[in-house]
Amino acid sequence: PAFDTVIRNGRIATASDVFSCDIGIREGRIAALGTDLGDAGEVIDAAGKWVLPGGIDSHVHIAQPSGEGIVMADDFASATRSAAYGGNTTVLPFCLQENGQSLRAALKDYHAKAEGECYIDIAFHLIISDPTEQVLGQELPALVADGYPSFKVFMTYDGLALSDRQMLEVMEVARQTGALVMVHAENYDMIRFLTDRLEREGSTAPRFHAASRPIVAESEATHRAISLAALSEVPLMVVHVSNREAMDEIRRAQAKGLRVMGETCPQYLVLTAKDLDGLNMEGAKYVCSPPPRDTESQIACWEGLQQGVFSVFSSDHCPFRYDDPQGKLIPKGRTSFRWVPNGIPGVAARLPILFSEGVMKGRIDINRFVAVTATNHAKIYGLYPRKGTIAVGADADIAIWDPDIRQTLTHDQLKDGSDYTPYEGIEITGWPVLTMVRGQVVVREGALTGARGFGRHLERRLGA
Ligand code: URP
Ligand code: ZN
Ligand code: ZN
Ligand code: ZN
Repeated sequence: PAFDTVIRNGRIATASDVFSCDIGIREGRIAALGTDLGDAGEVIDAAGKWVLPGGIDSHVHIAQPSGEGIVMADDFASATRSAAYGGNTTVLPFCLQENGQSLRAALKDYHAKAEGECYIDIAFHLIISDPTEQVLGQELPALVADGYPSFKVFMTYDGLALSDRQMLEVMEVARQTGALVMVHAENYDMIRFLTDRLEREGSTAPRFHAASRPIVAESEATHRAISLAALSEVPLMVVHVSNREAMDEIRRAQAKGLRVMGETCPQYLVLTAKDLDGLNMEGAKYVCSPPPRDTESQIACWEGLQQGVFSVFSSDHCPFRYDDPQGKLIPKGRTSFRWVPNGIPGVAARLPILFSEGVMKGRIDINRFVAVTATNHAKIYGLYPRKGTIAVGADADIAIWDPDIRQTLTHDQLKDGSDYTPYEGIEITGWPVLTMVRGQVVVREGALTGARGFGRHLERRLGA
């Protein structure tokens, strides 16, 4: 046959167009777009469905060390399986440099954890926690050239937070190499001060996590990170933006012509700080940083997506089990929210939530959906045009969506390693019924058909 697979009768959307035609796939790539393409090993009928570029989630944490006695709920097999169930074909997890560790050694560890395990393609970002002379002068420039052109820095968290001086040193490497700096923007001292005060007052339940990290701690750090990037003359990606004040900092920078980009996540569209109020420890299920805010912040984050202030929508998947002493429950002998590991699962729920709440409810159109869930991730992080679009020559990374499926979201649909979803009970319209990576069907109608180990690590170029 002319093609290994032909997808027929679907409506295709890219970041810029909507059109109806068939897709001919050969050797893992899109070989033809048209009609009457000829015979194929397999014909997939997509009548009545959307045919979209597979989701790219450029912000996930997998098997990352998270403190003594705490274990992340997903390894590379379960995280990439769950991602595929949610319509994703590539994820970008972080490789965390531990203090005193070389970047090469950290990467070796993460590659060993991922090797032979992944159902979909992956590419690592680096987290720079210890910017020594060796790291800044030798390792980082070499790794950018070797296909790791993005790294995250933290302004908060014990053991991770960099000083402004250190941020400038890292940004200097980005300036010299063309790499992209991603920043977790929260004011460390504000959070430490408030956390200590809350604990002294006996305010230790999970809901006080939100009070310990107010909006001003995020907006101040966002402003400062942007200032440091402006001084350094480098582009900046502000990840997981949760509210209007921080979003407006990014908007103002963009209006001045600075290359500052923003990311938001499902938790900031559909959760609020009230979700942390649950009985006993239930609120721990929603502990992530920055914390979910209020309904006005949700509106602001939608505006950021609609108006292009945010170019990417990611999950910040960072899963811990709830009913597990290695997860969200505060370890014995410790008393406060301070000890609840930060992060929530979302790699499978990200796309259904944005499709349902965004596209089906008319807040964003299908092209914006594709842009913020796939195309922009590929462009910004150096995977385009191999990934992130439907075009001749691109990898056949495709998700077929049925817009007529209505269901209540439950954790068992998501196939991750956690024991809950923070999005339990949300009504969802539209669902990815088939996920294809490089021409191979990985999930079809709820069945896992892909092979563990099929997913590859992708070398990246500098982003656009
Ligand atoms: O609470 C969160 N977001 N945990 C994941 C790590 C991070 O800061 O992105
Ligand atoms: Zn972060
Ligand atoms: Zn400002
Ligand atoms: Zn994160």
